[in-house]
Amino acid sequence: MNDDALRYGADTPLSRRVVAMRSSAIRDLLGDAQRPGMLSLAGGLPAADQFDVEGIERAFAQAMREAPRVALQYGATEGQPSLREALASLMAQRGAAVAPDDVVVTAGSQQALDLLARALLDPGDLVALERPSYLAALQAFALSGARFVAVSGDGDGACVERLLAAPGPAPKLVYLVTNFANPTGATLSLARRRALLDWAVRRRVVVVEDDPYGELRVEGAALPPLVALARDTPGAAHWCAYVSTLSKVVSPGLRIGFAVLPGWLRDAVVRVKQALDLQTGSLAQEVADRYLRSGRLAQRLPQLRASYRERRDALCDALAARFGDGLRFARPEGGMFVWARFTDGTDASALLAAARDEGTIFVPGAAFYDGAPDAAALRLSFATLAPPQLAEAVERLARAHRRLGGCDPTALAKREAGATPAH
Ligand SMILES: Cc1ncc(COP(=O)(O)O)c(C=O)c1O
Repeated sequence: MNDDALRYGADTPLSRRVVAMRSSAIRDLLGDAQRPGMLSLAGGLPAADQFDVEGIERAFAQAMREAPRVALQYGATEGQPSLREALASLMAQRGAAVAPDDVVVTAGSQQALDLLARALLDPGDLVALERPSYLAALQAFALSGARFVAVSGDGDGACVERLLAAPGPAPKLVYLVTNFANPTGATLSLARRRALLDWAVRRRVVVVEDDPYGELRVEGAALPPLVALARDTPGAAHWCAYVSTLSKVVSPGLRIGFAVLPGWLRDAVVRVKQALDLQTGSLAQEVADRYLRSGRLAQRLPQLRASYRERRDALCDALAARFGDGLRFARPEGGMFVWARFTDGTDASALLAAARDEGTIFVPGAAFYDGAPDAAALRLSFATLAPPQLAEAVERLARAHRRLGGCDPTALAKREAGATPAH
């Protein structure tokens, strides 16, 4: 009997696809995150204390003053023309010359992923992605009946070489988070970006580049998105789909994402969007447009980055001080996440249970795998807590770890021999 039937009784005629879907472990943890006193390292939420409340309020008032009958009316499925223009300008700042017509506004970038899945995938089609990967993308592709081919990653992002060398049929699409990936924090190197594009053209594979975090670079130089590099590779523009969002730098509550697509794919995605929700909310689009044109995002980005840098350092320094060699991680150059692995045999899911009692939570790495997970891995977000709270959260994590007997060589030996960890 499946979970839905266990919960609601046998008469639950849900589709096989939906029954097969796992609930997101991260969403499930959101309830815990609301508990009083809980210091959560679990969410993928941006820092609420950094929202430009005043700037968005002004953009809202301006939209209602200047164009109330546009903001309150239905609009084009592709998005409001003025916002598409503003997003094309944003793309120019990211190094990609795109026309407003190439842009489709979506309800968050999550919807863009869903639309692409529906437009491109038939049941059984192969989707290649990095392992571990952003869970909700896996869910969107799985709902379209995709099968997955996963490649591992390293400090330079997904091991594209493995993908290129893989025997058998080419996948229909490749999905990658190119900058400060969720969950690994890694950025795809320039050499790998170029190699991927060459291969995509040769093998006729759509490359879906998901880039919610690129603007949150706190050190090092930005790399061009694949849609920008496609200029140097004949034929590549035909295969590149770029997806991004205002969620992480402005506000996820606006639900404004976008896709930059070649004409053939844009038309198909717009058809699918018509069937799904007709359009993204006009009011949110008019607000987002005015906000982007106000120049406040550009003014605020340096402060936002400085604050994320401080938080990243607070988390990484505390982890290094508390766990030493028992926990390996790379300091990401941006984004919101640190991906870490225990080297002392600690099981991250067992640690989560103990950490919850101590007043902190994180996401065990298992949540980001479709197959056999890495039990020693965990994702820690530094975005929402101030530096002193991050230090305290790591103290709590260390206490939970001690309770499990972590870093104790005898406990490790026992665990390796298959014994249950002591609580
Ligand atoms: C990699 C990645 N893609 C897409 C999204 C979806 O964001 P939104 O729908 O708010 O734009 C997220 C959110 O956490 C993400 O981490």
